[in-house]
Amino acid sequence: MTPKVFSSRRELKQWTAQCRTNALKIGLVPTMGALHEGHLSLVDAALKKCDCAIVSIFVNPTQFAPNEDFDKYPRTLESDLARLAHLNSNANIVVFAPSPAEMYPEGFDTYVVTGGVALPLEGVARPTHFRGVATVVLKLFLLSSADCAFFGQKDFQQARVIEQMVRDLDVPIEIVVCPIVRESSGLALSSRNQYLSPDAKKNAATLFQSLQGAEREIRAGERSCSAIKQNIQSIIESVPQQTVEYIKLVHPETLEEQSETLTLPVAVLLAVRAGATRLIDNAIFS
Ligand code: PAJ
Repeated sequence: MTPKVFSSRRELKQWTAQCRTNALKIGLVPTMGALHEGHLSLVDAALKKCDCAIVSIFVNPTQFAPNEDFDKYPRTLESDLARLAHLNSNANIVVFAPSPAEMYPEGFDTYVVTGGVALPLEGVARPTHFRGVATVVLKLFLLSSADCAFFGQKDFQQARVIEQMVRDLDVPIEIVVCPIVRESSGLALSSRNQYLSPDAKKNAATLFQSLQGAEREIRAGERSCSAIKQNIQSIIESVPQQTVEYIKLVHPETLEEQSETLTLPVAVLLAVRAGATRLIDNAIFS
């Protein structure tokens, strides 16, 4: 069954109030649409843990810098709804798909100030990104009054920023972080993979291959951060038109960088330019 779509905050709040009256547990899955199996895995997790799921579909302007792909970001509401219809046998999914003006009405002027976990990694290339993410996600938490919210490990730092916000601001919601869903080649699913040519997509499997290589080395006892990073870089840059933007080994909780001798647990995080497309991936080893 095609899920109900709410485009106003008022409609969503009415629906969530009804859920509350019926003592239903609400799961929230925030997305920017162009839904793929990665997003759907979060919806599945929400339906397993909660009685109903709100999937938000909103390409959030405040998390894009002026030079980024806000205008060309894929907007595919009809096919997104069709994908959700397949999961929606019990009619317990609703979609919240507001307009930018609905989320940021005239005069909007308040943002979440993110802290240290938003500064390194993605925060270097995208200094205003996490303030936009945290602001929209906090609004979604408040509008949905969800019990749980589901995020992907694919955006590892984003999940940390949200966990930190929830902890610091006493937001009454449980954050669930779900595993990365990959294509059979190993390429992590992403709405931005649509920008890749067939060749570039094939080459982008090297991101996962490099992480697998790092895992093998770490399991075999390699503890030199620079050796691990060099091997990752040489695998990624062995194919045409791929350059590393960063490879970082960090503590998974604090995101503090490890630059000499590796200690476990460690998160290995990558950002790569594949032509004009920016790809990220990661793996955690404990
Ligand atoms: P978006 O890129 O659409 O991703 C929505 C959610 O899907 C995020 O939690 C992301 O980590 C998760 N996701 C993406 N690819 C995945 C994959 N291959 N496997 C598992 N999960 C995956 O992230 C955003 O949107 C936005 O920043 C948002 C949180 C919605 C705020 O605007």
